[in-house]
Amino acid sequence: MVVPRRKPSRKGSMADVPKSLLEAIADLEKLFIVDQDKLKQITDHFIGELEKGLDHEGANIPMNPTWVMGFPTGDEQGTFLALDMGGTNLRVCEIMLPEEKGEFDIIQSKYRMPEELKTGNAEELWEYVADCLQQFIEYHHEDEDLGALPLGFTFSYPATQDYIDHGVLQRWTKGFDIDGVEGHDVVEQFEAVLKKRNLPITVAALVNDTIGTLIASAYTDPAMKIGCIFGTGCNSAYMENCGSIPKLKHLNLPEDTPMAINCEYGAFDNEHVVLPRTPYDVTIDENSPRPGQQAFEKMIAGLYLGEIFRLVLVDLHENKNLIFEKQDISKLKKPYTLDASFLSLIEEDPFENLSETRDLFESMLNIQATKPECELARRLAELIGTRAARLSACGVAAICRKKNIESCHVGADGSVFNKYPHFKARGAQALREILDWPKGKRDPIVLSSSEDGSGVGAALIAALTIKRVKQGNTVGVRDPEHYEKCMG
Ligand code: BGC
Repeated sequence: MVVPRRKPSRKGSMADVPKSLLEAIADLEKLFIVDQDKLKQITDHFIGELEKGLDHEGANIPMNPTWVMGFPTGDEQGTFLALDMGGTNLRVCEIMLPEEKGEFDIIQSKYRMPEELKTGNAEELWEYVADCLQQFIEYHHEDEDLGALPLGFTFSYPATQDYIDHGVLQRWTKGFDIDGVEGHDVVEQFEAVLKKRNLPITVAALVNDTIGTLIASAYTDPAMKIGCIFGTGCNSAYMENCGSIPKLKHLNLPEDTPMAINCEYGAFDNEHVVLPRTPYDVTIDENSPRPGQQAFEKMIAGLYLGEIFRLVLVDLHENKNLIFEKQDISKLKKPYTLDASFLSLIEEDPFENLSETRDLFESMLNIQATKPECELARRLAELIGTRAARLSACGVAAICRKKNIESCHVGADGSVFNKYPHFKARGAQALREILDWPKGKRDPIVLSSSEDGSGVGAALIAALTIKRVKQGNTVGVRDPEHYEKCMG
């Protein structure tokens, strides 16, 4: 059967949309379209903010040094555990780095992070994490004497790391609001639970997901210079020189020593200087557990895309009386009832009459949407998805301009990057506009998918740290003796 495909130009399909909705669409376009000049203005401001974060503690963008002090060579070896505590899932992996350069084997189990845990307390969190880890070990290593397996702990939240095996949570992001963790060392809290259960594990490194992605992608591709996550949250990491990190000056590290920086640039423009926020972005922020924080992330990340879309539709119905006349919109009124996949499905609806969009509204929200309403929803999804992709490009462009990187590969992971339709192409187009690349030539900076990089990255970082401690380089390591158990 030939599936009728929508034509690339969508103009014709708006023919039957009444004037009032066309005007509403035009208003939304004014709110959500970010043009080339604005992209450039945002990027310029971004560069200054990255510099401030490297200069002093307490800047908007934290620019956290992570004590990952070099790229893998491809010769790393051993067996490692990796625990990845992301926004949606918890993943436990065992990673074998064999003799063959750049290779790895992985076994893994995924566990859903229960919703109630996200607003619970520290003890419930760590008990749950330890339960998953224990289950994994019991299942894969029943009755084996494991010694002390080194673990790379991917913790995808902003943490101040005085050492690589230490991290004080600065603040929860991505809707998490767990009591008793902010301001505390998460490694210490986690290790206390491991000890109580007598689990044969040594936390060798605390790793942000962007750092894991950077290191894992660089393992197989030396052109990788930046690691990004565009998923439930958004952020990037890159390798800096200690000489360019004034806030580390007091440590007297040699200027050319590499130091991976977890930018935590989801916090870009918390002061609201440059981002074109809409009233809907303001509402998202005000109703979030941490108002005033993660301004950039709240316009881009997967957690918020569905909510922005929902808020617009509710506004058009309730305040402007433009859509869903006489319909019961009680389901739509529930905050966070739609996630980014709702927008993806609408953008992917292949039918000229948008019948899949209509079915989605019916099945998920109990709303009978008319064809013009589906057209509006489709345009709205495009606007929100495009804005997210274009704004994301500003962070990557800012790092490249700050570091004078003219060409490189950028390893990216996360559900939005991997699954949201056209995200990559829209982001690439924005990069071209920001960096003024000549037309008709190959893009010198290219984002490519580094799926599940954070697990392998955490294992590699554990391996790199153990190796350097073994060689006597204990810079940024809390307790070198701690590593002796897992040195094999
Ligand atoms: C966190 C970052 C993380 C990003 C992507 C943000 O909310 O603060 O640490 O890298 O999400 O997961």
